[in-house]
Amino acid sequence: MIFDKLKYKPINMLPVSGKITSVSPSNIALVKYWGKKPVQIPTNPSISFTLKNCHTQTSISFKKSNSFTFDFKIDGKSEKSFIPKIESFFSRIKDFTPFLFEYQIQINTNNTFPHSSGIASSASGFSALSLAITQLEQKITGFSNEDKYLKASYLSRLGSGSASRSLYGPCAIWGFHKDVINSNDEFAIEFQNIHSNFKNYQDTILLIDKGIKKVSSTDGHNLMHNHPFSKERFSQANKNLKDTISILEKGDVNKFISVTESEALTLHAMMMTSNPYFILMKEGTLSVIEKVWEFRKSSDIPLSFTLDAGANVHLLYPEKYKQTVLNFIEKELIVYCENQQYICDEVGSGANIINENYA
Ligand code: DP6
Repeated sequence: MIFDKLKYKPINMLPVSGKITSVSPSNIALVKYWGKKPVQIPTNPSISFTLKNCHTQTSISFKKSNSFTFDFKIDGKSEKSFIPKIESFFSRIKDFTPFLFEYQIQINTNNTFPHSSGIASSASGFSALSLAITQLEQKITGFSNEDKYLKASYLSRLGSGSASRSLYGPCAIWGFHKDVINSNDEFAIEFQNIHSNFKNYQDTILLIDKGIKKVSSTDGHNLMHNHPFSKERFSQANKNLKDTISILEKGDVNKFISVTESEALTLHAMMMTSNPYFILMKEGTLSVIEKVWEFRKSSDIPLSFTLDAGANVHLLYPEKYKQTVLNFIEKELIVYCENQQYICDEVGSGANIINENYA
C-alpha cells in the first residue's frame, strides 16, 4: 500500500535541536495544472520540466519546545505576507508530521531569482521547505531516500500544487493518468526517460511584467469549477499528457512545440473564458509570441514558448542554439522585457539537502 509510506513511524529519539538546509528549483509545466478540488487535488494530470538556476534555498533551525512556534524570514527579513500560506501549510501537514510540532522553528529562505520577477516562488519554496522537513523525519524514522522524496512531494502539494513536481528532475508528472504507472493525485513521480534532444533544454524567461498578478493561481483554479469548457479541457490535458510523454521519449521537437504552445494558449483561453473572465497576458506577451513564430519560420530553429499564470514568456529550445537565440532576444525581444530583464535557465535535476546537523 503506497499510502502506508506516508505514515509517521518513529524508531529514534527526536533530536533536541539542529539545522537542515535544502535547495529546490522552480519548474515550468508543459501540460498545465489548472483546476483543483479540496484538498489540493488536481482536476487533470500535469507534466513539467524541472529548472536549475531559479531555485530556493531554505534552512530550518529547530529546538525542542513545549509549544510549536515558527518564524519565517526571506533574505534575512520578516515577510508578513507569506505567513497565512505557511500557517495553512502547517495545519494541513500536521497529521503527517507530528514530530515537527514539538519544536520551535526558524525558517530562513532566499531565492536566486528576483522577488518581484513575477516568477512564482511557491513551487521552489514549498518543495525546499518540505524536503527539509522530511530530512528531519528520516533522522527519526530511518525511512528510505525514495520515501523521503515521495513524502516531500506529498507535503509540497499541500503547500502549492505545482511544488509537488519540483522534487524530481528532469521532468515530473503529478496527477492520475490511467496509462501512466504510479501516477496519482497526491504526489508527483519522476520522469527520467527523456531523449537526448531534450537534455539540457534551455528555458530563457522573459520578464514582461514583474507586477503582482491581479488574479492569484488559487482563484484561477477555482474558476474552473463552473467553467463552460472544463470537461473538454480536462480530457484535452489527459491526451496532451500522454502525447508529451511519448514526444519526450522519442525526441520529437516539432510535436513538442505544437503541444506545448497549445497548452500555454489553452491555459490563458481558460482564464479569458472564466466567469468572471480575466487576462494575465500583456501586450508584450503577444508581441513576443508573434516574434517567436516569425523567428522559427525564418531560421528553422525549434524555438517555442510557454506561459505560466502570468505575462512572462518562457522560451524553450535546444542547448545548441543558445547563442543564436540569445542574440535574437537581445536584438528583438528585450524591448518587451521590463527593465530589459530576462533569466537564463535550463532543465535541472530536482531538490537536494545541502547541509544538516543535530544535537
Ligand atoms: C499555471 O501550483 O501555483 O503554473 O496549488 O493554488 O498553489 P496552487 O497553484 P499553483 O498553480 C500553478 C498553475 C500553473 C500551471 C502549472 O504549474 O502546472
